[in-house]
Amino acid sequence: MQVPDIIIAIDGYSSTGKSSFAKIVANEFSFTYLDSGALYRAVTLFAMENGFIDADNTIDVPGLEKAMEDLDLHFGEGGTYIGDRCIEEEIRSLAIAGKVSPIATVPQVRSFVDKKLREFGKKRRIVMDGRDIGTTVFPDAELKIFMTADPMIRAQRRAAEMEAKGMKAELSEVLKNLQERDHIDSTREVSPLTQAADAIVLDNSHMTIEDQMAWVKNIISERFGC
Ligand code: DC
Repeated sequence: MQVPDIIIAIDGYSSTGKSSFAKIVANEFSFTYLDSGALYRAVTLFAMENGFIDADNTIDVPGLEKAMEDLDLHFGEGGTYIGDRCIEEEIRSLAIAGKVSPIATVPQVRSFVDKKLREFGKKRRIVMDGRDIGTTVFPDAELKIFMTADPMIRAQRRAAEMEAKGMKAELSEVLKNLQERDHIDSTREVSPLTQAADAIVLDNSHMTIEDQMAWVKNIISERFGC
């Protein structure tokens, strides 16, 4: 399938399988996959390690904004980096998941991340997943997909994924965390998680990854005639 130089924006709720789907789509069409959530997670790690967020999720916004001026955040071999330190594994912990949504509500953090994401998008032929890619980061993306799935199914998938990585995962805790994140992500003032008017909904509660690929290939071939 010869897909033109488009941007594929994939948004949706936490743990709907956006990144697994986005990676396979990117691989299938020889596009670059970019994980926008990883940058929010990385800023969260940075804020936690440097004391810009406390136990009650109070954020020192001016301090964090100033410190981000020198924050070298990028993607490299094996995932996300701060400088030459690979932080890919650390940013997937429940400790980060518990703090990332408050950090992602900070407008200064959002503009820092948006700027980086738009730079990556200049090359096109990318698949980017997140919460506001089709609405804010790339409102002109040629294909926008909004992913959703039943919350309990999402929690079960996430817990299994964490256990496979040797992390502790209590199902009730995982479910609570993702419902909290859904709530914060959907109700924040800046760039809340909403479906773009021109996005196509993919509810994968009862779909395999093969079903999802067949679904997207069908849409791409219809829309772009390839
Ligand atoms: O996709 P993820 O679970 O790794 O995202 C982590 C958090 O980052 C998520 O709870 C909300 C935030 N996020 C966001 O606000 N906007 C994005 N484009 C991507 C992620």
